[in-house]
Amino acid sequence: MKRRNFLINITTAIGGLVATKAIAQMGHNNMHDTMCDTHSDECQKGDNMHQHMNMDMNHNQMPQKLLSTSALPQGMNLPTLANLKNESNQEGVFEATLHLKSTKITLTPDLTTEFWTYNGMIPGPKIEVFEEDHVKITVKNELTQPTTVHWHGLLIPSDQDGNPQNEIPAGGSRTYEFTIPKGTAGTYWYHPHGHNTVAEQVYRGLAGTFIVRSKHDPLASLPEQHWFFSDLKLTDKGQIADNSMLDWMNGREGQFVLINGCYRPKIKIDSATRIRVWNSCSGRYLNLSIPNCDVYLVGTDGGLLAKPYLLTKPLLLTPAERAELIIMPKQTSTVYLQSIGYDRNKMGNVPPEQDIILGELTLTKSEPITLPNTLNHLPNMGPAVAHKLLEYTEVMDMKEPRGGVLFLINGKRHDMSRIDLKSKIHDIEEWTIFNNSHMDHNFHIHGAQFIVQSHELNGKKTQPEYIALKDTINLRPHEKLTIKIQQNLPGLRMYHCHIIEHETTGMMGQLMVE
Ligand code: C2O
Ligand code: CU
Ligand code: CU
Repeated sequence: MKRRNFLINITTAIGGLVATKAIAQMGHNNMHDTMCDTHSDECQKGDNMHQHMNMDMNHNQMPQKLLSTSALPQGMNLPTLANLKNESNQEGVFEATLHLKSTKITLTPDLTTEFWTYNGMIPGPKIEVFEEDHVKITVKNELTQPTTVHWHGLLIPSDQDGNPQNEIPAGGSRTYEFTIPKGTAGTYWYHPHGHNTVAEQVYRGLAGTFIVRSKHDPLASLPEQHWFFSDLKLTDKGQIADNSMLDWMNGREGQFVLINGCYRPKIKIDSATRIRVWNSCSGRYLNLSIPNCDVYLVGTDGGLLAKPYLLTKPLLLTPAERAELIIMPKQTSTVYLQSIGYDRNKMGNVPPEQDIILGELTLTKSEPITLPNTLNHLPNMGPAVAHKLLEYTEVMDMKEPRGGVLFLINGKRHDMSRIDLKSKIHDIEEWTIFNNSHMDHNFHIHGAQFIVQSHELNGKKTQPEYIALKDTINLRPHEKLTIKIQQNLPGLRMYHCHIIEHETTGMMGQLMVE
């Protein structure tokens, strides 16, 4: 197999060689050969888009045929997300059960797909609670592999946050229990976080939404919609496809992007509407364009901004990021909701990024409303008392079966038994994250919401356009990002790239807060 050629002269031990530009280039070129094994004429023509859409290789280099995008029905009305039922009738208590199981879902009259689900649905049921509520969720793992549930973005104790060290065995169950801190209203989600299994469990369907509401929400009077984006890659038999080598390298991207589990739905907006948006895709960057509307960003991962911010360009949402938008239609019209092609410098022979249609918006012009000037009071973080530096690198490694590339943090791959960094509880720290690699990666950390201080790219330092609470943020190749962060609970916290294939193959570290 050509794959061996690609790896043959890159005899590196794990962590032994940091990719220089030349090596990365070599990776790119050789990867081209590898991926073109079975359709080389197409590759030589240079226009292999079609082949790449319909052919795909798993890690054994067996071609997988993918389902044509015309096979799924489109244009249904956007479904609302089903709620996870609160089994408690006590005020301020949310008690519920999540069953993880394999579920057959009929996507078209003649195709039944086996997903892994929370409570039989894609996406998992929506959890909605108020600040200061006590949450008690029992998780029954009926899968054939261990899992955890990670409550992405929530500020809850480390031993309740689904760390890979605390797996629920196949057939087992556990109850997660935590209290939602005051002042943390926002748009969160949940997904598995076991050891070595996250990528597969997410691409088989395990993810759901978690909304924390405030009793004093300045936008409470607006109608609200939820757009939960997920990615789906199906074989021609309508089954969930394996990850290809390119998926392991670049992050998985399927041929379908779903909103609330629905392919290219119709969405109606007939007045100023608050929209909560999640990117739960494994690897896909969404660069949302919402034509014919005024679009205000009012919230990010950890809650509302200090004040509304009028968007003048598409909204980039990388995997795991969330946003709250106020959309005001300016013109009665029917337009596409699109993701505008965003070049994140993937490796290998990949087609150029294209605009993709995510859905159809039916807009009715409505009177613009005046948004409150002040939405939130963000913490005013004082001077940092400690500094940390993280460096992302890429390394070719012949022993890595999933794509032949290792993505590392500070030269290391994730090790569950190693503490990489320590923080003192309540210390305000400044972290600099340096993406010393050739592709975009994002950065996510558990247990805290941080505030970006500056971006530095090509020797140019810029301030963020707005102050926001974030738990996930993108880095361009060679970008240096500085954040301020404060961990207010003790225990072990993960930080990682949220291109979930990178997380699963080890682009993750562990912080101990004491
Ligand atoms: Cu969305 Cu470590 O997780
Ligand atoms: Cu997380
Ligand atoms: Cu990454």
